[in-house]
Amino acid sequence: MPTRRKSSTAFGVDIGGSGIKGAIVDLDKGDLATERVKYLTPHPSTPEAVADVVARLVREAGWTGELGATFPAVIKNGVAHSAANVDKSWIGTDVDKVFTDITGCDVTVLNDADAAGIAEARFGAAKGVEGVVILLTFGTGIGSALLLDGQLVPNSELGHLELDGSDAEKRASSAVKDDEGLSYKQWAKRVQKYMSHVERLFTPDLFVVGGGISKNSDKWLPLLSLNTPVKPAELLNNAGIVGAAMAAHEKFAV
Ligand code: BGC
Repeated sequence: MPTRRKSSTAFGVDIGGSGIKGAIVDLDKGDLATERVKYLTPHPSTPEAVADVVARLVREAGWTGELGATFPAVIKNGVAHSAANVDKSWIGTDVDKVFTDITGCDVTVLNDADAAGIAEARFGAAKGVEGVVILLTFGTGIGSALLLDGQLVPNSELGHLELDGSDAEKRASSAVKDDEGLSYKQWAKRVQKYMSHVERLFTPDLFVVGGGISKNSDKWLPLLSLNTPVKPAELLNNAGIVGAAMAAHEKFAV
């Protein structure tokens, strides 16, 4: 009788401005192997407070193996080099070491949008797409993942391009839509301006749009007029967790 290969798994944690979510990921399917558990992001979101939540998720799952974590900042060699929407004390912090010390796991940390990008490229909207793919996540900020033939160019940070004299994410994130009470039509005008700018810079083959607001993509994607095809993300809420687990398993280094 042929022996069935055991599927590979890793634990993924997605750290965002409002929530910290985690689950064991089935890396063959690109799907969650356990139910996603979510805790609110502590405020202030200091390294100690966030690390406590990560440790809790891992402990409650009884996990001791490979652990991937997303972080909403520039990450190089496990160290955070920015902190646009998290506590400023993260800048210069070795995120990898903080999480390794508290969990004892084999940790890999990467930018949140980069994690979503590799997950969408392997299992979702950008699967099998050659050439330049840009994933943009619209949430508290704007995150980006730049991929060439499925390979990630890390830390692209396109949310901080200048738009109408300010940081693009301060004009066109979904948090700004809520804060300023913009209708989809009003907000889509800003997204149009932003995405045309990105399009002029990179002439991508495909845009993938993610973040919570991509669930309602039928309300705003039809309002955009771009030369590049635009697809909503397919892994939705799980893209960060899946991408983090992939990075941990593949010893992804940025
Ligand atoms: C950060 C990025 C992050 C994005 C989405 C931006 O403010 O600079 O690193 O990917 O927000 O969370």
